[in-house]
Amino acid sequence: MNEPKQRQNIHYFPGHMAKAFASLTPYLKSSDLVVEIADARAPSASRNPMLLSLLGEKPHLLVLSKLDRADPKETESWLSYYRKQGENALAGDLKHEKIIRQLLQCASPIITKKRAKEQKIGMKPQPLRLLVLGIPNVGKSTFINNLAGRNAAKAANRPGVTRAEQWVKVSQDFVLLDTPGILPMNYPSEEQAILLACLGSIKEEVLPLDALADSLLSLLRSRYPSCLASRYGISDMTSWSDETVYDGIAKRMGYIGIGGNSDTSKARSGLLKDFQDGLLGRLSLEGAPC
Ligand code: G4P
Repeated sequence: MNEPKQRQNIHYFPGHMAKAFASLTPYLKSSDLVVEIADARAPSASRNPMLLSLLGEKPHLLVLSKLDRADPKETESWLSYYRKQGENALAGDLKHEKIIRQLLQCASPIITKKRAKEQKIGMKPQPLRLLVLGIPNVGKSTFINNLAGRNAAKAANRPGVTRAEQWVKVSQDFVLLDTPGILPMNYPSEEQAILLACLGSIKEEVLPLDALADSLLSLLRSRYPSCLASRYGISDMTSWSDETVYDGIAKRMGYIGIGGNSDTSKARSGLLKDFQDGLLGRLSLEGAPC
């Protein structure tokens, strides 16, 4: 990925995020497996670039969430890319599919190792302690709820929600720690920050909304020129100017302002929201490196 650039006017790293990151150290030490959640629609931008270097030998599993909203081919490419890099990775729809089987499969060598150690020192089998990490809005709480089979951790749609760390018992095999979300200690590039804002992981309010919508449109235009067909009736936007696209969206969605003109500002915010809500289809904003 690109080297971090000047931050410009994007403020997305609240102080409490840094504190939350520091507060994780004891939990990192006491956990058996770190489960890092990232958004399958932009796996690189939604990861914490510092995490792997902090982990050392600690077993780590990368879970790409929101598989149901991401381009399946792109997700496969990301998984194979990460596996080639030696990472333990899986992808899932954390909201609608039980993830336990995939998790057990990935964690099984670690459980076996732990059991052998326990047996050696005559200790009773202890549950595997999972530390769930990720930036806000990637699906950490949903992952925990998925495993715990109940509303164990509050899911919130906006970043900056601080929650107290809590242990959640899942089964005889697993105990999970829910934590506040973490953003990279190093600022990502502006390009990555825009991806995160498009996903809703950074408060959109800190970016000019129109510029953000234009960035999303530009990404969609280059990656999925036909993605506006079913929602807005724009079958191929390749030869359309941005303003024509917004005009088309406004007309289709009834975003009409004073004087009967298209409200293209509303069209912009509508486009962003529709993308975040998965109403434009299964789309990924980042392609896996070759
Ligand atoms: P966080 O703890 O990392 O901050 O994220 P959280 O679990 O709160 O998830 C953020 C939003 O993403 C939630 O939506 C959650 O339902 C959704 N989500 C998480 N994983 C998946 C997934 O695999 N697929 C889909 N489609 N959505 C997922 P929300 O709108 O804030 O809440 P809700 O109305 O869905 O409950």
